Amino acid sequence: MFNRSEFNNTLLNWYHANKRELPWRETSDPFKIWLSEVMLQQTQVITVIPYYEKFITKYKDLDALADADETSLLKDWEGLGYYNRIRNFQHAVKEVQAQYQSQVPSNAEEFFKLKGVGPYIGGAVLSIAFNNQLAAVDGNVLRVMSRLNRDGRDMTKASVQKDIKQYIESDMPLEAGDFNQALMELGATICTPRTPKCLVCPVKEHCEAEAANEV
Ligand code: ADE
Repeated sequence: MFNRSEFNNTLLNWYHANKRELPWRETSDPFKIWLSEVMLQQTQVITVIPYYEKFITKYKDLDALADADETSLLKDWEGLGYYNRIRNFQHAVKEVQAQYQSQVPSNAEEFFKLKGVGPYIGGAVLSIAFNNQLAAVDGNVLRVMSRLNRDGRDMTKASVQKDIKQYIESDMPLEAGDFNQALMELGATICTPRTPKCLVCPVKEHCEAEAANEV
């Protein structure tokens, strides 16, 4: 991927013009952005939307979710699966309530200490809500990066994922939250696993797999 800054600009411009209107893109509330990323970590966008709407209607802010009865919270989560996500999230927002006067911490050192916050959630929330220069590497981003750089390494390996995260962060645009969402959006809508739409890809000129006919 020869020219990084050209790539970054092209991708961001494409994202600004083509991004899907999703409910968590209409807020700057870190609590809601965090909730959306917890839901999206293992569940598809289309499934998440109604759950996200239900949750932000019923639990209007961090305190409401922290104080909620766990049984009803789990009931509302029914259908999303991976229940530890919501258990950990409630545990974490209780920590925020007790330690940070219910204000989601914007610095990495504090945020990454919270329950359930790993590299993906931490990078996603801190970049989208606070524009920290952190990458948010999920399955979509790994696939996009492996194609762009014609990188044949095993993307399930933690060491490779860490390396990709560092690679992205080594030239992170100032609009870090939009950039992360642009990479995810490209993976979800264009650079899809099976039949990627290379013909209409905004960054095909930067793609080494496309150049080698090896997508
Ligand atoms: N998948 C994970 N995070 C996402 C986001 N913020 N927007 C769309 N899809 C996502």
